[in-house]
Amino acid sequence: MSRFILQHSDAGLRLVDRFSRQHPLHINFMDAGFSFRLKRGGGRKEMIAKAVGVKPRLQVIDCTAGLGRDSFLLASLGCDVVMFERSKVLALLLEDAISRALANEQLAEIAGRIRLVHGDAIQLLGCQTNTPQVIFIDPMFPTRKKNAQVKGEMQILQRFVGKDEDASTLVRCAMATGSKRVVLKRPIAATDDFEPSFSLKGKSSRFDIFLQ
Ligand SMILES: C[S@@+](CC[C@H](N)C(=O)[O-])C[C@H]1O[C@@H](n2cnc3c(N)ncnc32)[C@H](O)[C@@H]1O
Repeated sequence: MSRFILQHSDAGLRLVDRFSRQHPLHINFMDAGFSFRLKRGGGRKEMIAKAVGVKPRLQVIDCTAGLGRDSFLLASLGCDVVMFERSKVLALLLEDAISRALANEQLAEIAGRIRLVHGDAIQLLGCQTNTPQVIFIDPMFPTRKKNAQVKGEMQILQRFVGKDEDASTLVRCAMATGSKRVVLKRPIAATDDFEPSFSLKGKSSRFDIFLQ
């Protein structure tokens, strides 16, 4: 019996973990919690907005799309976002969520600023013809101490895609593009080989910004 199944439901596509009682993973940019996050100060107060240096039509490559929340938030602030996701299943869930957002009067404009590409960012970054203005990277955090474990839908995502052991290679590839701004989201206590130009720190995570 396979552990994970991809299921069609009335609400859209969802990923079920048959070994867990948790809710299936379903991406919905219209859910109440996320809508609240989008509306609260238009997201401009979010650390990610400052880390990326958002302005209308800024071109951002999100190398680690995941549940698409960071990309959607950046698009809601006027950025044009290309998101890369290497998991085929995640890419299908994202595609489904974006098509539902495109059909929603209030979200269509935001969703229209996002382009999803299924593939590995390490390869895809090397194929860019123009230097990306901003590159954003949010790899799957390594398993942490019990009291600091990821919550909710991130848990099932982590069980499904595992750890992004090659995150350092991805950061080096991002720097090698010559992009003026590379933004790396990390757990607050993470230690890396990279020395950022500056960091923005929250309660549990931080954004390391590399200006080149
Ligand atoms: C922590 S999640 C990102 C969460 C995301 N920022 C959000 O707002 O939902 C990391 C995701 O990046 C993807 N990923 C990691 N390395 C990648 C790579 N080299 N290329 C494409 N996708 C990658 C993983 O499959 C996973 O879905």
